[in-house]
Amino acid sequence: MKLLECSSELSPYSRKDPAPMTLIDGKVVSQLVKDRVAGEVATLKAETGKVPGLAVVQIGEDPASTVYVRNKNKTCEKMGFNNFSLHLDETTGQDELLAHIKDLNTRPEVNGILVQLPLPSTIDSQLILESLDPAKDVDGFHPVNVGYLATGGAKLVPCTPAGIIEMLDHYKIDIEGKHAVVLGRSNIVGKPMAHLLLGRNATVSICHSRTRDLPAMARSADILVAAIGRPRFVTADMVKDGAVVIDVGINRVDGKLVGDVDFDAVAEKASHITPVPGGVGPMTIAMLMSNTLEAFKRSQ
Ligand code: GUN
Repeated sequence: MKLLECSSELSPYSRKDPAPMTLIDGKVVSQLVKDRVAGEVATLKAETGKVPGLAVVQIGEDPASTVYVRNKNKTCEKMGFNNFSLHLDETTGQDELLAHIKDLNTRPEVNGILVQLPLPSTIDSQLILESLDPAKDVDGFHPVNVGYLATGGAKLVPCTPAGIIEMLDHYKIDIEGKHAVVLGRSNIVGKPMAHLLLGRNATVSICHSRTRDLPAMARSADILVAAIGRPRFVTADMVKDGAVVIDVGINRVDGKLVGDVDFDAVAEKASHITPVPGGVGPMTIAMLMSNTLEAFKRSQ
């Protein structure tokens, strides 16, 4: 496996097939997004004295959430954003959380609010997401933003799918007219991904646990997005030669992070593929910062 020696762009991978394979490098693309956003924030600060503010709300100590939230807070500070994050005790009830959100909704210096999921089972997540001011909903999960995305007038778009489009654009991958197959129908990734691809004139299929002959569907994809949360689910026989393969999965197997795609085997067939880690993952935070800047600009 020679892949780690490849450079991030146009990295020909040694295989029998003469067509080169490109590793889609999320670290490179996310840095470009963060540099653009941080540059705009610095200009705003110099010209107006104001910078965007983000509040990440976490309840309890779910280990994965704690890591994500720490990264979000660090990125916020590094990029010159104001940070209004709240870490609430796991015993926090729904009414108390609603009161915090109401407060954040009314504060003009808070431009973006993200409630880290999953929430404790005693709290109605949908009710909480619907309590956010849609103009501050930097996750793009409020039904108003979901509706805008579905009807073609997207305002704040879910970060992971938005980051995937950013990566496809960076590598000049044509979307129009292609068959894009999205594996997974979550509100966070699968459904918004399908809307974004449709908005770019792809022909889109969404597959899920009840799909009949999912391998055959996957094999018909020009662009295959795997977001099902099952380690190495997508095997080489499910991928068409020359397909673009985007792996959203983050699974821990024997202490190692692996995606939803059997990377080594699928890399032999794909024209482009994202690694795990270092693919889609870094894009999510970059797009969160971009959404927060966007929410700030719309509020002015
Ligand atoms: N938990 C896992 N992914 C996400 C995300 O994109 N947004 C929020 N709020 N919580 C998450």
